Amino acid sequence: MNNDITYYSQKRKTVKAYDASKKISAEDIDKVKALLRFSPSSVNLQPWHFVMASTAEGKSRIAKSTDELYPFNSPSIHNASNVIVFASRLEADEEHLKALLAQEETDGRFAGDPETFRAGMDAGRKMFIDLHKGQLNDVKHWMDKQVYLNLGQFLLGVSALGIDATPMEGIDTGVLDKEFGLTEKGFSSLFIVTLGYSDAKNDFNAALPKSRLPYETILTEV
Ligand SMILES: Cc1cc2nc3c(=O)[nH]c(=O)nc-3n(C[C@H](O)[C@H](O)[C@H](O)COP(=O)(O)O)c2cc1C
Repeated sequence: MNNDITYYSQKRKTVKAYDASKKISAEDIDKVKALLRFSPSSVNLQPWHFVMASTAEGKSRIAKSTDELYPFNSPSIHNASNVIVFASRLEADEEHLKALLAQEETDGRFAGDPETFRAGMDAGRKMFIDLHKGQLNDVKHWMDKQVYLNLGQFLLGVSALGIDATPMEGIDTGVLDKEFGLTEKGFSSLFIVTLGYSDAKNDFNAALPKSRLPYETILTEV
């Protein structure tokens, strides 16, 4: 593995055609799952849920979200090794906040004076949630952003694992929400990521150079 992480940010390219014969190993799938789980989020809210398809049947269920409106994305879903639906919470409810506190306690975050640390963590989290529920009035959007943050880490992470990926917003989220009962579970889908290995002969993006705006445009150094 190359220690220069910027290498992986430039090596990774959105895949446009997958080699259907190549599957991600079970060992690497465990690492992929760890990337999803260990992403940071504001106040450690972790407002996400994921559906991972590894079978042809599971991938066909996800492709229902592209077949009609975004058919150009469907072949990648079928030919990828695995496909992940990223969903975000509909509400930052008390039940979820209690689950977070319980997990933090189990993970040893409240060592020393547990009552004080637990109360402090709960109050700090609620302060931000109340800000987004009240004054900023964007709590759902705020939680969606945390899931996009997970995507950023995820794309760089899978690249470092030598896995190719395609993030896709070209999906009908309503179809996915219905297919996987996400609304009833308290979530809404945002985007999917297909994972596998590029079919270099048919992947037009593989041979193309990256295009990014220059530093003069995107960066102000003071
Ligand atoms: C949130 C998001 C949604 C995207 N949706 C699609 C998509 O539906 N289909 C697709 O082929 N590429 C999709 N892309 C890929 C972008 O077009 C691509 O990241 C961008 O052109 C930069 O190229 P690169 O990823 O190869 O560096 C998406 C990328 C992101 C980050």
